[in-house]
Amino acid sequence: MGKVGFGLALGCATATCVIAAVMMGRRVRSRRKWRRVVAVMTELEDVCSTSVGRLRQVVDAMAVEMHAGLASEGGSKLKMLLTFVDTLPNGNEKGTYYGLDLGGTNFRVLRVELEGNRSPYIKHDVQRQPIPVDLMTSTSEDLCDYITSSLKEFVDKEEKSGSDVSVVERKQLGLTFSFPVKQTSVSSGLLIKWTKGFNIQDMVQGDVSMCLQRSMAKQGLDMRVAALINDTVGTLAVGHYHDSDTVVAVVIGTGTNACYFERADAIIKCQGLFTTSGGMVINMEWGNFWSSHLPRTPYDIELDSESPNPNDQIFEKMISGMYLGDIVRRVLLRMSQESDVFGPLSPKLSVPFILRTPLIAAMHQDDSSDLMEVSRILNDVLEIGEVPLKVRKLVVKVCDVVTRRGARLAAAGIVGILKKIGRDGSSSGGGRMKTEMRRTVVAIEGGLYTSYSMFRKYLHEAMTEILGEDIASHVVLKVMEDGSGIGSALLAAAAASSSASC
Ligand code: BGC
Repeated sequence: MGKVGFGLALGCATATCVIAAVMMGRRVRSRRKWRRVVAVMTELEDVCSTSVGRLRQVVDAMAVEMHAGLASEGGSKLKMLLTFVDTLPNGNEKGTYYGLDLGGTNFRVLRVELEGNRSPYIKHDVQRQPIPVDLMTSTSEDLCDYITSSLKEFVDKEEKSGSDVSVVERKQLGLTFSFPVKQTSVSSGLLIKWTKGFNIQDMVQGDVSMCLQRSMAKQGLDMRVAALINDTVGTLAVGHYHDSDTVVAVVIGTGTNACYFERADAIIKCQGLFTTSGGMVINMEWGNFWSSHLPRTPYDIELDSESPNPNDQIFEKMISGMYLGDIVRRVLLRMSQESDVFGPLSPKLSVPFILRTPLIAAMHQDDSSDLMEVSRILNDVLEIGEVPLKVRKLVVKVCDVVTRRGARLAAAGIVGILKKIGRDGSSSGGGRMKTEMRRTVVAIEGGLYTSYSMFRKYLHEAMTEILGEDIASHVVLKVMEDGSGIGSALLAAAAASSSASC
């Protein structure tokens, strides 16, 4: 080999070495970045872990807090609000009633005809509208006027279409208002605080029924608010209408909450109220439950502190549809800050609530082999370009961990209620003797439970894990479609005549 040939060969070898070194360096760096992302994932999994042991601690804490909330006003973060609903519909109700349901993302109006004898009610659907975002932070007058004008439109349309409801003297309305309300009777109450992103300050401590009643008078609508209820109470009413074993109701949608029927002697904070040994439905406002056993991550803490209601609704912020998507977004943002596995940091990842929970359900349940739905959502919503399959799988895993934790905590909450009312099959009085397990129906409503099958699956799994298969087989979770809307009309029909207050 001549000098030139030798030089060329040496040059090529050097270039090959340099390329190899560069490639090796890249591979090492990319492995290091991947390891950082995996570390974020592992930390998330660790902190979100909900072993059955931890869930049982949550069950016990829930039952203890329920006792405390019933013992005294302000005795617990669980408000355990009296509802003045002391009888649940039994199917004998008759007449025509209106229902108005204001709770989260939507608002709707409906009319229900009841014919007694547990006959199926006739439901005249339903004007359903999204609540304009600016109304959520406007004034009480704006909100009540808006709702009233929709209600009036609905009633006018019906009257024009020749429906015979106009012969009813004064129309009776059940109002489902799905926020914490301190009831003063079955048909009136004061708003304690807002949740789920609403923030109309002049309405707090105001009388909710009066606000609507004023707008109805202004708009010439001759209607009376005969019942003011929480959505969980409506769900319980519909559950009980169909199946008298229904004693608990849970809503898991934009927000989350539960109610149940409590014995009079257990409601210590308001003993003067009860003249009979009956009882009353208690609106727990469980979204505000807090326990040191809740597996909270730095993402939850940050989400809470940036929310309009810091330190409130901690349980809700770990479970409900309003928040799950935003927890996932925060994890993806952190991963993207730690490394460039998602490409350059997308500004969209810093936009609060951009990743809504239905989107994480869609990614989580993407069953295509190449996770095309995940790609699409990352691209369309978060403006993240094409990422390798292993990164898409990681995104699915984040959705899974966050959703599974929420569903399992909701299950622990339900078992906590069953424990409080002696329906969890555990021994009573400190002995080991099992009490006879009665069939217990839990009515459930809310899009997170009804539309997100993985959430539902994880919740069921956890109920069985905590209760054991035998006991769990006595507990039936029944979906109550439209429970919150129809329930208000049913309760307007069944409205207790009692005007007692506490
Ligand atoms: C409210 C509850 C309601 C639940 C479900 C929570 O944010 O505080 O009153 O029942 O959402 O809609």
